[in-house]
Amino acid sequence: MSERETWSTNLGFVLAAIGSAVGLGNIWRFPWLTAENGGSAFLVVYLGLVVAIGVPGLVAEFVIGRRGHRDPVGAFRALSRSRWWPVVGVYAVGTTLLVLTFYSVVGGWILRYTVGSLTGAYVADPATYFGTVSFGPEAVVAHLVFLGVVGAIIATGVSGGIERSSKAMMPAIVVLLGGLAVWAFSLPGAAGGYEFFLSFDVATLRENFLAILGPAAGQALFTLSLGAGSMLTYASYLDRDESLPADATVIAVANTLIGVLTGLVVFPLLFSQGLPPGSGGEGALFIALAEAFASLPAGGVVAPLFFGVVLLAAVSSAISMLETPVAYLVDEHAVPRRRATLGVVGLLAVTGSATALAPSAFGLIAGTLADLALTGGLLAFVVFVGWVLGRDAVDEYRAGAGSLSTPLAGAWHALVAWGLPVVLGFTLLTSLASLAGVALGVELRVALTLGALVVVRTLVRMGRE
Ligand code: PFF
Ligand code: NA
Repeated sequence: MSERETWSTNLGFVLAAIGSAVGLGNIWRFPWLTAENGGSAFLVVYLGLVVAIGVPGLVAEFVIGRRGHRDPVGAFRALSRSRWWPVVGVYAVGTTLLVLTFYSVVGGWILRYTVGSLTGAYVADPATYFGTVSFGPEAVVAHLVFLGVVGAIIATGVSGGIERSSKAMMPAIVVLLGGLAVWAFSLPGAAGGYEFFLSFDVATLRENFLAILGPAAGQALFTLSLGAGSMLTYASYLDRDESLPADATVIAVANTLIGVLTGLVVFPLLFSQGLPPGSGGEGALFIALAEAFASLPAGGVVAPLFFGVVLLAAVSSAISMLETPVAYLVDEHAVPRRRATLGVVGLLAVTGSATALAPSAFGLIAGTLADLALTGGLLAFVVFVGWVLGRDAVDEYRAGAGSLSTPLAGAWHALVAWGLPVVLGFTLLTSLASLAGVALGVELRVALTLGALVVVRTLVRMGRE
C-alpha cells in the first residue's frame, strides 16, 4: 500500500479547515436563521454556543481523526475494541452525503447567480431569474457543474488539491468581503441593518430562549462543520507536532469573524434598499438581495463580486464533505482516489438532482434533517472521546500544545465527557420531539436525556471489558 497523504504545512491544514467552516452556513443560512429567530437575540445564543460547544467539540473531532489516522470508519476501528463504534463512522460518512445532497444544489444556485449577475440577466429581472434558478432542470444542470468542480479538486489529492486551493480561496474571500463591507457602510440607510444585526435585545432573548436554542445549536454545529466527520478526516492527515486546541481556536475565531463580516455586508445592503430580511424560507434572502442589487447604482459590479465570494465559500466547504466518503473508500477499500471520487460524485449526481427537482425534500433536508444528523454525530463523537478514549484523548489534546495546556486539557475533557453529551442529547431530543410533533416538558426532556446517557454509559462500560 502507498504512503497515506498528509498536509504539507500546518497552515495548509488550518486554511483548509477554515475553508470547510466558512461556507453557505455563514453567508446564506446564518442571515436567514437570524432573521427568522429574532435577529440579535439569536446572535447572542449562537455565539455562546460556538464557545461552549463549538470549540471543545471541534477539538474532540480533531482528536479522533489525528489519533486514528484514518477516515471516520477506520479511525473508530483503530481506536476501539467494540465492533459497534465503526458504525458511527459509517453514519458520519452518510451524513456528509446527506448534507451534500442539498448543499450542492445551493452551490448550483450560487453558480447561476454569479453567471447571471455577470451577464446582467439576474439584475434585470430578479424575480423571473430566481424562478428558473431554484428548482427544475436548470437547477439540476447547475448542481452537476458545481459537483464537477468540487470533484476535480478532490481527485487532485489532499495537499495538491484541497490545500493548494484553500490557500488561494481563503485570502480571496477575506479581501473581497472586507471590501464589500466597506462599500455597504457607505450606503445611505445602512444603519438600520447594523441595528437589526447587532443591537442586543435582552427581552426578546429571555422570552424566546428555549425556542432559539435548537436552531442556534444546529447552526453552531453546522457552521463549524461539526458532527459530519469532515473535520475528523482533515485532522487525520496531520502530524502530532502542532496543537489541536490552538488550531481549533484559530479556526473558530476566523469562521465567526467571517460570519459577522458577512452580516455587515448583507444586512446594511438590504436595509439600505428598504428590504428587511423577512422570514419566509431559504429562498427569501436571495430574492431580497437580488432586488437590492437591482436597485443599487453599482449593483451590476457588486453582485458578481458578492456571489463570487459565496461560490468560493461553497466550494471550499463542499470539498471537505466530499473528501470524507472518498477517504473512506481510499483507506478502507483501497480504491484509487480518482476512481473513488468519480464513484461518489456519480452517486451525488443522482441524489442531488432529485433534490433539485423536489422543493419539499430540499426543505426537509436543509431545514431539519441536516441539523439532526450533525447533532447526533457530534453526540456520538464526544461520548467516544469522553468515555472510551479517556486518558488517550487528554494526551492527544496536549500533543504539541506545551505544558501550559495540562490544566486546560483536564477541563476540556470533563466538558466533553459530561457537559456536551447533556447539551447535545437535550438538543437532539428536543428536535426529534418537534419533528414528531410531540410536546414534552423541559423537565421531562432533561430526565429522558440523563436516562439515555446512563444507559449508553453502561453499554460503553460493558463493551470495554
Ligand atoms: N461549515 C459549512 C458551512 O457553514 O457552510 C457547512 C458544512 C461543511 C457542514 C462540512 C458539514 C460539513 F461536514
Ligand atoms: Na460556517
